[in-house]
Amino acid sequence: MAVPPSLRIRGLVKRFGSHVAVDGVELELVPGEFFCLLGPSGCGKSTLLRMIAGFEAPSEGIVEVGGADITALPPHRRPVNMMFQAYALFPHMSVAANIAYGLKGMPKARAVERVAELLRLVRLEGFGDRRPDTLSGGQRQRVALARAIAREPGLLLLDEPLGALDRGLREETQGELRTLQRRLGTSFVVVTHDPEEAMMLADRIGVMERGRLVQVGPPAALYRRPASRYVAGLLGDVNLIPGRLGPAGAVGTRAVVTAHGTVTAQADGVLAEGAQVVVAVRPESLVLGERGLAAVVEDATFLGDRIRRVLRLPDGTALRASGPPGGGPERGAAIRAGFAPADAVILPA
Ligand SMILES: Nc1ncnc2c1ncn2[C@@H]1O[C@H](COP(=O)(O)OP(=O)(O)OP(=O)(O)O)[C@@H](O)[C@H]1O
Ligand SMILES: [Mg+2]
Repeated sequence: MAVPPSLRIRGLVKRFGSHVAVDGVELELVPGEFFCLLGPSGCGKSTLLRMIAGFEAPSEGIVEVGGADITALPPHRRPVNMMFQAYALFPHMSVAANIAYGLKGMPKARAVERVAELLRLVRLEGFGDRRPDTLSGGQRQRVALARAIAREPGLLLLDEPLGALDRGLREETQGELRTLQRRLGTSFVVVTHDPEEAMMLADRIGVMERGRLVQVGPPAALYRRPASRYVAGLLGDVNLIPGRLGPAGAVGTRAVVTAHGTVTAQADGVLAEGAQVVVAVRPESLVLGERGLAAVVEDATFLGDRIRRVLRLPDGTALRASGPPGGGPERGAAIRAGFAPADAVILPA
């Protein structure tokens, strides 16, 4: 296979009447990259994917694959394939015929060979003659996936490919999707609104908010260094402690004066002294011990792999803390909750 083409999106806008569904998206994918688009319902994920695939014409902007401008090309002439949010298998056709549908135009003998190869790839050997309604949800999803990759597109767009699956099957299929992508070496753009799924799958995640791509980066960077409250909250549970920005401290950190005392945290953005900010701390970064904010353990819940605590500060603010199971302060204990400056980030209020 030739070097898979990379994707480049410039100034992409989609308006539906006065509603701006996609708003000035810029994005560049490395060949072979697994990219996840993460965002709440209605933020424009599917619309962005449909413009890349050619099912929706942009109001403005350019889509390039492998350096060529494909903005004006119809879907079937693009080196791109898309698996839709509500993927549809043909119920009256066998699994093999469903997959072969993705190979229309290929000589019969080659298509038969290719279908067998694809069935092996998605681990459905022996299922070729079955009808979709005799398969499990996960197996059906894999058939849809096989059909989408049948032509070895240089770029594969998957709109909530695991949305229909329950938790166990979903986790298993996530692993398979990742393995499959590595084996194919194709760039994948996968839409999800599940942050854990995005973190599990992606090389990089792009977070969308009301049509805009607001932050792009590797999962750990987005989780640990979100650029806004929105991104912090979308990637997982987070405590937000309000305060005013103090003077600059050690390199990259600032002091924040809160109602509970002064704390130190990372500051990435440019913010003026005295600005209203929040200090974002993940529950697992709160260290319960001798130092930090005075609090009372209001609730402690055993969750198997961890204990989740609700801490109450004197002014009534609640913080959530997550720690290892076994040991630690019980309900009612007066403690202090601290955190390492490197584990907390200062964000605009
Ligand atoms: N054909 C259309 N005509 C008018 N408005 C549209 C059209 N398609 C999408 N929209 C609007 O554009 C916005 C973005 O829709 P889109 O389907 O891209 O969201 P999404 O992020 O994929 O959401 P979900 O997670 O629910 O699938 C929504 O407000 C939607 O109502
Ligand atoms: Mg959608």
